[in-house]
Amino acid sequence: MWKRHQKFERHSLWLVIGIVITVSIGGLIEIAPLFWVESTIEEVEGVRPYTPLEQAGRDIYVSEGCYSCHSQMIRPLRDEVERYGHYSLAAESMYDHPFQWGSKRTGPDLARVGGKYSNDWHVEHLKDPRAVVPESNMPPYRFLADQDLDTHATRERLRALLAVGVPYTAAQIENAEADLKAQVDPFASETSELRQRYGPNVVQSDFDGDPTRLTKMDALIAYLQVLGTMVDFRTYEAESPENLR
Ligand code: HEC
Repeated sequence: MWKRHQKFERHSLWLVIGIVITVSIGGLIEIAPLFWVESTIEEVEGVRPYTPLEQAGRDIYVSEGCYSCHSQMIRPLRDEVERYGHYSLAAESMYDHPFQWGSKRTGPDLARVGGKYSNDWHVEHLKDPRAVVPESNMPPYRFLADQDLDTHATRERLRALLAVGVPYTAAQIENAEADLKAQVDPFASETSELRQRYGPNVVQSDFDGDPTRLTKMDALIAYLQVLGTMVDFRTYEAESPENLR
């Protein structure tokens, strides 16, 4: 045995060739099946692409670096599930570009913060976190309420997401800017065009409490309020491994 192994141990070139062959076998076994399965993400009812306003809020969340203190992934461990709710499903972040899973938790995980607080609470908290949570060390983001949301590239933003695989329809892209503005209308009907295009559960509201303006605060809160609310966990049943084809 040693005699045959000597070849590898004495000559670095043979060793490198040996390593390459071994690693490629492992790599092939891991990667090859992905070419045959249609999707590695189990589709889940309710998960939809973000509305233009939610997406704009998400872009603010990314550019402000909120993820440097907040994760968006609830792990399937008892302490996390008891604190934050149902563990995150892969499908819930399938339209996230880039994803915001993260691992740093100076503040709590935000994967299911949607609906946990009122819009007013979020406005107060983002303007001055210590006004509502005295021990907070989160920085204030008061300026978001003073800055108008830049909407000129809304349609292009959705197009860019379409290019990386988010299934926006032609109508959604065509009406992107109108849909964005419609979402801050608190008097919208249950069957508004926005809801027809994105589903009946879309929240239409004046998020920042200032109906005269469309601000970055509106967009960010629209995004925070949708987090973790798309899947209805009262009816959701995980596909068991036996049911998978
Ligand atoms: C320096 C770290 C830090 C940064 C950056 C930060 N946060 Fe926080 N955040 C915290 C901490 C700590 C808490 C818990 C105390 C509190 O509620 O203020 C928190 C709490 C929150 C909560 C309430 C969560 C809950 O379940 O109670 C929300 C919502 C939130 N942050 C949103 C944001 C957003 C949006 C941004 C980016 C604009 C952001 N945070 C940036 C540290 C941070």
